[in-house]
Amino acid sequence: MFRSVRGMKDLYGSDAEKYHFIFTRIKSIGERYGFSMIHTPLLENTDVFQRSIGDETDVVSKEMYTFLDKGGESMTLRPEGTAGVIRAIVSENLTQRFPVKYMYCGEMFRYDRPQKGRFRQFRQIGFEYIGDKSPYTDVMLIMIASESLHSIGIFDFNIMVNTLGDEETRENYTKAIVKYLSRHEESLSDDSKLRLKKNPLRILDSKDKQDVDICSMAPSILDYLNKESRQYFEKVCTLLESCKIKYEINNFLVRGLDYYSHTAFEIQATGAGYREALGGGGRYDKLLPIFGGPDVSGVGFAIGIERLMLIIKNGMAFREPVRIAVIPVNESENDFAFKVYRELQECGIGTDFIQTGNLSKKMKTADRLGSKIAVILGETEIESGIATIKIMDSPETASKNKSVSISKLAAFLKWNIEERTRSC
Ligand code: HAM
Repeated sequence: MFRSVRGMKDLYGSDAEKYHFIFTRIKSIGERYGFSMIHTPLLENTDVFQRSIGDETDVVSKEMYTFLDKGGESMTLRPEGTAGVIRAIVSENLTQRFPVKYMYCGEMFRYDRPQKGRFRQFRQIGFEYIGDKSPYTDVMLIMIASESLHSIGIFDFNIMVNTLGDEETRENYTKAIVKYLSRHEESLSDDSKLRLKKNPLRILDSKDKQDVDICSMAPSILDYLNKESRQYFEKVCTLLESCKIKYEINNFLVRGLDYYSHTAFEIQATGAGYREALGGGGRYDKLLPIFGGPDVSGVGFAIGIERLMLIIKNGMAFREPVRIAVIPVNESENDFAFKVYRELQECGIGTDFIQTGNLSKKMKTADRLGSKIAVILGETEIESGIATIKIMDSPETASKNKSVSISKLAAFLKWNIEERTRSC
């Protein structure tokens, strides 16, 4: 018996519906802000990720699916979307006119330990805005992230914001962090001891309990910002306040990827049940030059779709589609019922035709197919022209059965479907 690869889920039924719902809602927010779709390959030369995300990040050093192809070249399944999108923007010569605004959606791969909301194959929807370095653009991206969650009925989240300053700021801050952490070197995790030599800021992102305790007393980057970086960050915060976007400053937010400068942000779920990062992003100053493009800055974010799927429930903004079952009582009513089925399909109503088994088995099949309403057509119904309607998900027995004229069936069902989806 074959199973799907550990950490990689088959997506079907209501999860597949949720995926589609999330994608269409968030895509329409992106369109409103003037973003268009870009689709890049799942596979890139390993260098694309190594050089942009950074050798010392967990993503590159531990989590990438990397292999040699038949030509002996090192290839990697994309662990995130930004690097490939920037590579495409440069290699497709889309840098003639700025700003360039793209959104993307698709599979990412990280060899991580699978757990709730953490997979080895997962999906992200992301946005990249290239060519307008200004706090207004950073706040615009935070607005899109926040509106994206609202559009799918998620309101319980925190937006955490930090700045990583410019290069000069990071150099000075790195010195301060090395000085502080060197005093605690013995107590750091083995990974962080190595990071102290190679990429000390990464230690702030460590999940090791002891590292977290040590880092909680570390110097804050806010005390090392040069004038330009301070002004930039202050403007971002002022704009967030004037737009009434609730946020928290988190001095130790460095994000898991090395390409950020200035604004970095992360969105954390706060509702019952799930409290991990739903999405994150920030500004990147050096990504385009890494791929041979112009010295132009960008800003973006990505949201993890599986994590949203964990939170959204039927009855929030998400509504499962309302399916209808057309059920002939006996075989002799099959032809008539099939005609009704065809008419409903022509009216754009999602309908199933169920004709195998006795009535009770047909009702069970309708239930399994997720039907909310069954249209029952027996001899009496056909003779009288009045169909029996069973509202399958009604909790009250009294409102379970209705009689509706067969000639008005399509109108009745359309009205019912609209009622059920009205509050979306
Ligand atoms: P990231 O924070 O690495 O950023 O990933 C963004 C989101 O993807 C996370 O907040 C999480 O919801 C989801 N995610 C990450 N890893 C997993 C996993 N193993 N299983 C399920 N979901 C996961 C980026 O990827 C950047 N490219 C974002 C960005 C765009 N920055 C600038 N532009």
